[in-house]
Amino acid sequence: MKNKLILLISILMVTGFLSCRQKKSVQNSGEKKVFKNEEFSYRPNFHFTPKTSWMNDPNGMFYHEGIYHLFFQHYPDDIVWGPMHWGHATSRDLIKWEQQPIALYPDDKGYIFSGSAVVDTLNTSGLGSIEKPPILALFTYHDPEGELLDAIDHQTQGLAFSTDSGNSWQKYGGNPVLKNPGIRDFRDPKVIWSKDHEKWIMVLSAFDRVRFYDSKNLIDWNFLSEFGNGVGAHGGIWECPDIFPIEVNESNEIKWILLLSINDGAANGGSGTQYFVGDFDGKSFVLDELFQQQLKENGPFWLDYGKDNYAGVTWSNIPTEDGRRIFIGWMSNWQYAEKVPTKKWRNSMTLPRELKLVRKNDSYSVISKPVTEFDKYKNLVDSYEGISLKNKWSANTSSHIGAEIEVEFEVMDGDKLNILLYNQEGDTLSFGYDDRDNTFFLDRRKLLQKNFSDDYASSKSVAPRKIKGKNLSAKIVLDKTSVEIFYDDGHTVFTEILFPKEALSKISIASKTKGSKIESLRMFEIATEE
Ligand code: FRU
Repeated sequence: MKNKLILLISILMVTGFLSCRQKKSVQNSGEKKVFKNEEFSYRPNFHFTPKTSWMNDPNGMFYHEGIYHLFFQHYPDDIVWGPMHWGHATSRDLIKWEQQPIALYPDDKGYIFSGSAVVDTLNTSGLGSIEKPPILALFTYHDPEGELLDAIDHQTQGLAFSTDSGNSWQKYGGNPVLKNPGIRDFRDPKVIWSKDHEKWIMVLSAFDRVRFYDSKNLIDWNFLSEFGNGVGAHGGIWECPDIFPIEVNESNEIKWILLLSINDGAANGGSGTQYFVGDFDGKSFVLDELFQQQLKENGPFWLDYGKDNYAGVTWSNIPTEDGRRIFIGWMSNWQYAEKVPTKKWRNSMTLPRELKLVRKNDSYSVISKPVTEFDKYKNLVDSYEGISLKNKWSANTSSHIGAEIEVEFEVMDGDKLNILLYNQEGDTLSFGYDDRDNTFFLDRRKLLQKNFSDDYASSKSVAPRKIKGKNLSAKIVLDKTSVEIFYDDGHTVFTEILFPKEALSKISIASKTKGSKIESLRMFEIATEE
């Protein structure tokens, strides 16, 4: 049966029928579009970007009254980093965003650095009422004058609140709510309500570790403990932590995950996010024994092995009936974020992703996948089964509007499976799996536009495969200026940005020793326009 199918596919390809079909299915989206101007060429179709100016970390995400709120580090006056504000965007489905007026401006206490926001449902702060719960944002005040004078305490934690569901914000009169204890890098508070401990917990980064605090009212904070000295990756300073309880897949066991961004020293250079699995008793975070063993054997664990997923944290107040842990990251890297070739705006966010904790073959891993809301924008364009890789296989993608390619493949012992996305201008992106050293890789060195920074395409990104077996899968999400690859159901993820001359409208797959095969391949276009 498979042989017949392969024969049929080959005939179709030779007769050109396949390319006709594909042209037809993407017809509505326009003819071949060469990237002529920045707005067309670089602005992603389904990733959040600010309308204009600079953006870095996602901040203060919460869900309230049917709306997802996303704030972000923003400098409205330039396309490089500067005095930080909190920009604001809202969405009903996590995919289509509408930018809102700036939520927080710098003031005489400093710039508004990263932080988080929560709906204070029980009005523990007294800043609203039970009927109309206040929303509280905890952020870092970064005093630029103090920094210039080398004052060790130039970062403190401030509070702002909204009594109109997050539309407008005012700073709390008694700021800062948490003074600096004498730590130079003391920032990025993430606050959660701990049901088990009936109190608010704050985790924030303190140079090479995190510190935990608790509070009954989000205003008065008590120091609890520290974690991280000498544990995990320490190639740079720790930033933007997050902590949350999560059910271990298909069990009733609860573990706590600590997310930690680090700049420099990520898996493939520059900025990246590692994670830890452990327990939190309301006072201290302690590594799980099994995870500790994993750390000893395999080194740090990374949420993403691509170079462009940094400072990501998760949403607050996702309803219990929903129960998901939803994450978004900044899709760039401090090595070159200020140099990427966009002119009107800079940088975008990753797709929102659902995080899960899986325990398989006696080891934990955090897996991520695009949120299911993304599925409603996907139209199936083509699907194939049983493709032999005796010869290179190729097809068209609908990457000028966005594409998702879902592929299941079987890789023979010692083989290497290479997937290329390319265009006629000469841009090529390659990625795949190499069985010889059991690694996934992503290589943007053959993209034409790469010289804006020496760090951008200096080497290929690699990641060890986490699970065993000959059968692999990949979900490849391609927007105009990014690729997000979810291997093995999200066990290994790569996120990287790219600036091709025109859409990467072609895909080809080849196997080194010609023994591997594609079990199935489904190609979707992403139609975000009504
Ligand atoms: C991470 C970070 C944070 C800080 C913010 C400033 O990218 O350095 O630690 O709060 O950016 O914009």
